[in-house]
Amino acid sequence: MSLSQSAFSTQSASEHQTPWAIEFHDVHKIFDNNEHVLKGINLQVPWGETVSLVGNSGTGKSILVKMLIGLLQPSKGTIVVAGQDVKGLSEMEWMPLRKRVSMVFQANALFDSMTVYENIAFPLRQHLQMPEPEIKERVAEVLEWVLLPGIEQQYPQELSGGMRKRVGVARGIVTEPEILLYDEPTAGLDPVSTTVVDEMIRRFQRERGVTSIVITHDLKSAMNVGDRVALLNQGVVWASGTPDELMNEEDTFVRGFFEGYRLAMELLQ
Ligand SMILES: Nc1ncnc2c1ncn2[C@@H]1O[C@H](COP(=O)(O)OP(=O)(O)O)[C@@H](O)[C@H]1O
Ligand SMILES: [Mg+2]
Repeated sequence: MSLSQSAFSTQSASEHQTPWAIEFHDVHKIFDNNEHVLKGINLQVPWGETVSLVGNSGTGKSILVKMLIGLLQPSKGTIVVAGQDVKGLSEMEWMPLRKRVSMVFQANALFDSMTVYENIAFPLRQHLQMPEPEIKERVAEVLEWVLLPGIEQQYPQELSGGMRKRVGVARGIVTEPEILLYDEPTAGLDPVSTTVVDEMIRRFQRERGVTSIVITHDLKSAMNVGDRVALLNQGVVWASGTPDELMNEEDTFVRGFFEGYRLAMELLQ
């Protein structure tokens, strides 16, 4: 099937009222134990762009995306999603945004007792009133997107880790979100599944105009999928730019962070 002719619509920035899909303005996060993890995050993601978010473990990357979907509240600052300030929104007020923003979680949060079909259909039943034949068509289509056609009747336990992850991604995209947030989508995946997931992220962007933040430890993935890379350090966006810009950055921390990647790339040439 040609994906550009699929049932999914393509978005373009001109249809939106603001130039930014995602905005963080001076966002702080201080936990009850006084741990001040985020100390003034400024990051704006225009519609249609993919930003790779990198940084050492524990720097607050997951916290950032959790705040974007209301799982955590910022201690200070402003977060705007699709033009809407999300601070203090009630669950009811979140509803319209929930369909537009989807998160692909770090862990495979599939329901083991449900088939792949039921797992992927779940958010459609939860958020959209959709007749069963259409649900069937959507599920089949997203399974093709993740290169797992026809596995509807299998159970998660019957699948490899990489396949489960891709089913998780399929569930994340089935509601046709405009904004997709990926937290370590390739963690623990074999190289083939990693390439499939990276390629998929790129296709969502190219063919459907999806805006994404991709948190990853894999610098090769970060460079491949990101139009821009943002590096989190000491509670702030320490550096951001195109992959080329970051590779040529003089700052000591940035150079150190990408040194291993740079060496690996040089060895491959
Ligand atoms: N719910 C929480 N309560 C207290 N501290 C937390 C909570 N969630 C995260 N943290 C702290 O914030 C830090 C950053 O978390 P996280 O965003 O998961 O880092 P990353 O995803 O960059 O590895 C953690 O090291 C932890 O100390
Ligand atoms: Mg994390």
